[in-house]
Amino acid sequence: MRKKIVAANWKMNLTLAEGKNLVDGILAGLPALSDARRVVIASPFTAIAQTVAQLQGKPYIYPGAQNCYAENAGAYTGEVSALMLKDAGVQYVILGHSERREYFKEDSALLAKKVNQGLSNGLQVIFCCGEPLEIRDAGTQNAHVEQQIKEGLFHLDAAQLTNIVIAYEPIWAIGTGRTATSAQAQEIHAHIRQVIAKQYGADAADNMSILYGGSCKPSNAAELFACPDVDGGLIGGAALKSDEFLGIINAMVGQ
Ligand code: PGA
Repeated sequence: MRKKIVAANWKMNLTLAEGKNLVDGILAGLPALSDARRVVIASPFTAIAQTVAQLQGKPYIYPGAQNCYAENAGAYTGEVSALMLKDAGVQYVILGHSERREYFKEDSALLAKKVNQGLSNGLQVIFCCGEPLEIRDAGTQNAHVEQQIKEGLFHLDAAQLTNIVIAYEPIWAIGTGRTATSAQAQEIHAHIRQVIAKQYGADAADNMSILYGGSCKPSNAAELFACPDVDGGLIGGAALKSDEFLGIINAMVGQ
C-alpha cells in the first residue's frame, strides 16, 4: 500500500544539543502515526547515533541519513557507507539531492551505485529528482525528471523498487520560499507515476510514494498533500523548528 511520508532533511545544520532539543520537541507533539503515515528524520552523520537513541521504541518515526557512498568499505577517506548507516540504526537514506548533484558533482552513474548500496544494506532510499529554473521556464521539466529517474532507478527490479521513495524537488523552490503550486506539483507527480507505470506496471506505480520538496511549510502542506499524486514531503528549512515540522506532519496525518 502507498505510504504517506514526511521526511526532515536537516542538511548541514544543528549541533548535537540543538538536534536533541528539536527531536524532543517533535516527539512531545507528535500525532499518532501508522505504517501508512510515517516520519523520517535525516540528520547529519554526527547526530545519527543520538537521533537513533531518541527515536528508539517510537513507532513509525525513523532515523535517516542524507547521503552514503557507492562502495561498502575501503580507502575512501571522509565517506560513510550504507553498511555503516544500517549498523548505526538508520532506516532511510536520501540520495541524489540536487545539492549533492550540483555542489558535489554526483552524476547518475554514481547515484545508481549509491542506490544499490542503500538497497543491498536494507535501507529505504529516498531518491531525489527535480529541474532547475531554466528547464521549468523552457517547459521541459517532465523529460528532465524522467531522465533522472531512468538513469538512477531503472536498473532495479520490481522487488527492489518497493524500497524506493521518490522525492520531486524543483530546484527553483528549494530554500527560496517559492513553492510549486499544487497544480504544478500534481502534474509532474502524475507524470513520474506514469513513468514508473510504463516500466514496472500499474501496481508498482500505485504503491510508489512520491514526495514533494521545496519550501514546503505548514501553511501550504495541506494543499500540496491533498493532491492525489503527492504522498507527503521532503522538508528542509521548516524541519528545523519543531512547531513548523509538526504542522507539516499534522497536514500529512490529516489527509
Ligand atoms: P526546503 O528544502 O524545504 O528548505 O526548500 C527542501 C530540500 O532541499 O529537501
